[in-house]
Amino acid sequence: MCDIERLHKLFHQLYHTDPIIVRAPGRINLIGEHTDYNNGFVLPATIDKAIYVGVSKRTDNKIHLHAEEYNENYFTDLENLRQSKFHWSAYVLGVVEQLQKRNYSLTGFNIIVDGDVPVGAGMASSAAIECATAFGLNELFGLGISKLDMVKIAQKAEQEFVGLQCGIMDMFTCMFGKKDNVICLDCRSYEYEYFPFHQEGIKIVLLDTSIKHSLASSEYNTRRKQCEEGVALIQQHLPEVQSLRDVSIEMLDTYVAHNKTVYNRCRFVVEEIDRLLAACGDLQRNDIKSFGKKMYATHKGLSKLYEVSCAELDIMVDLVKHDRSVIGARMMGGGFGGCTINIVKENAVEELIYNTRNKYRERTGMNLNAYIAVIEQGANLVEERIEV
Ligand code: GLA
Repeated sequence: MCDIERLHKLFHQLYHTDPIIVRAPGRINLIGEHTDYNNGFVLPATIDKAIYVGVSKRTDNKIHLHAEEYNENYFTDLENLRQSKFHWSAYVLGVVEQLQKRNYSLTGFNIIVDGDVPVGAGMASSAAIECATAFGLNELFGLGISKLDMVKIAQKAEQEFVGLQCGIMDMFTCMFGKKDNVICLDCRSYEYEYFPFHQEGIKIVLLDTSIKHSLASSEYNTRRKQCEEGVALIQQHLPEVQSLRDVSIEMLDTYVAHNKTVYNRCRFVVEEIDRLLAACGDLQRNDIKSFGKKMYATHKGLSKLYEVSCAELDIMVDLVKHDRSVIGARMMGGGFGGCTINIVKENAVEELIYNTRNKYRERTGMNLNAYIAVIEQGANLVEERIEV
């Protein structure tokens, strides 16, 4: 649990001044996976786990970073952002690089990154650090950047500095999340609508496989390319098609079927975009049962067609699938590890976690961490004045 008071104290110990503190939460995604970079829709929400950053100005051009998670300091300056190999500071420095590319004038600064979003669990902790950094520096230097532009800056930082060709979902959610609501985001136009998510009698339970998604970035980038390949094949015949958003199953059958792998990838995305739109209808009718069935269908597609699941994620879904207290379950996020998201009847949550933990250990020898996710508001400035 991140304690603001503790962050404040640490900031004083390290940098001898008051910080501006920003909270940027992790996210869940109810349905609509790998659709964002295909111009489709997603249905995410921000949760009660967040990254906190404290920032203050320096008079020189140095950047002093501290990450509580690693209990590690890192020092550099505004002229030396790039590193020879990956380091956690990339999530901060990538944002600084984007600000510089857009000609914002910065001086050096101090920053502490803290929080309780589990790393590598599929809750978008990296996007939360990037958004928190963009938000914090925007406040600190009075840059006047809009929320949507901060989203784009954070996304570009991930793509260009970290190297993951991610879509917009994680950053958009982090900035625009709303308490008790999911966001139905059109990733082509950035138009969005909030849907109240009624949590009476149910809980959103995240079951963490403890597998850190290490394959994620290379395989993720490959999936993205395969989707583009599918679009290119169709474009040869139908030049008006811009992305998988414009594609139907008939088009895939006609123009892509000869390339089985690309066909399967594209088929999943086309089906998932439709499934999400139908799932929004379920939510509006408060038909959570029907919504849950779609989550299982999404898992199957992610596992068999898109092939971004792993044995442990499949086991985790299998273990709950016949349990009547579980309304829907699927892997969540980029894949290859991390959590499953489960909609569970409230009165059965504890028993489910207990039983699944035991069975998961029996099947895999691994530990299961469980989180109950509560939908909270998106990124914000932490206003409390703290006496040190
Ligand atoms: C990661 C990416 C997102 C999205 C999901 C899959 O979280 O950062 O942009 O593509 O995977 O839905």
